[in-house]
Amino acid sequence: MLILGIETSFDETCAAILRITEQKNRRLKIAVLANIISSQILKHKKFGGVVPQLAAKLHQKNFIPVLEKAIRVAKVKPQKIDLISVASGPGIIPALLVGVTIAKTLAWGLGKPLIGVNHMEGHVLSVFLDKKYPISNIQYPILALLVSGGHTQMVLMEKWLKYKMLGETRDDAAGEAFDKVGKLFGLDYPAGAKIERLAKKGNPEAFNFPRPMIKSKNYDFSFSGLKTAVKNTIESLRKERKLSRRTIGDIAASFQQAVIDVLVLKTIQAGQEFCVKSLIIGGGVSANQALCNNLKKFLKEDLPDVVFLVPQKEYTNDNAAMISLAGYFRYKIGESGDWKKVQADANLKLDG
Ligand code: KG4
Ligand code: ZN
Repeated sequence: MLILGIETSFDETCAAILRITEQKNRRLKIAVLANIISSQILKHKKFGGVVPQLAAKLHQKNFIPVLEKAIRVAKVKPQKIDLISVASGPGIIPALLVGVTIAKTLAWGLGKPLIGVNHMEGHVLSVFLDKKYPISNIQYPILALLVSGGHTQMVLMEKWLKYKMLGETRDDAAGEAFDKVGKLFGLDYPAGAKIERLAKKGNPEAFNFPRPMIKSKNYDFSFSGLKTAVKNTIESLRKERKLSRRTIGDIAASFQQAVIDVLVLKTIQAGQEFCVKSLIIGGGVSANQALCNNLKKFLKEDLPDVVFLVPQKEYTNDNAAMISLAGYFRYKIGESGDWKKVQADANLKLDG
């Protein structure tokens, strides 16, 4: 089956084509034939964040070239596509509307089924784009830690594609906290990977930043107070003319460790409470090596039987390959594929 995926939830214009074949042993062979991403980051940079109207305009301008490239790279004819899958939410509505409208038009014009998928479900399933993790081997319950620029969520999957939201951030998302701290250092958006590089040269114990909600008896998060603590530290060091390269590395490392401590502790707690067998991490922040290493370390100590699945780096950020895959699974569990049922929804819930 050939699946065209479309992703325009935020500031990346993406199209992907997957070929999924069911083999004799019922295992799936998943081939990513094309995964094209056109980033708008440089265009939003001067505004200090993503401007929704501009994102929509750029999706409109760039989508057809991205789609043409995907078709060229995958070497498939559009008529051969069997299924179209589009991220219909959550995200910024002007941006989502572009992708959803294009997807509906394509589905209607080509006479193909269309599935609207939750962008966050794409992040959950992105690990399965890696041949290392055959879906047939997965053990339930699965816990998913989703850490991106827009969301921080802890999700339980007790059955295939049935989600229960355990907790989410009450203010800034984990990636957003990295981006805001980066801005304090004068780093361009998105700053997560840059902070991680700075942190490698610093001491994570140099500054004792708060670990917000680490002791709360739930799985919610809050990162805005941590960002404010970092801001105050930077400002006072600047006043005292003590903000050296070395202290910047120390602040980055200490900030990163504070985020990691909260994420890891809550993940381990949820893993124990719900007796999970598998842990999936997904979203842009899952590219953070220090976070994955800390999770691995504590899983080994506290939950040694849990299998930890991490997406390949190219699928940690927003992409349409994960949307194609999610659409395929939704179609296989019986969703109709009727384009009339697909609607963009900025607040689409995973457990709705
Ligand atoms: O999933 P994603 O591409 O977009 C959203 O759906 O939001 O995530 C982007 C976020 C940005 O906030 C970026 O700074 C963060 O992921 N990020 C990282 C790293 N790489 C990307 N954060 C921490 N460490 C990284 N290595
Ligand atoms: Zn995302």
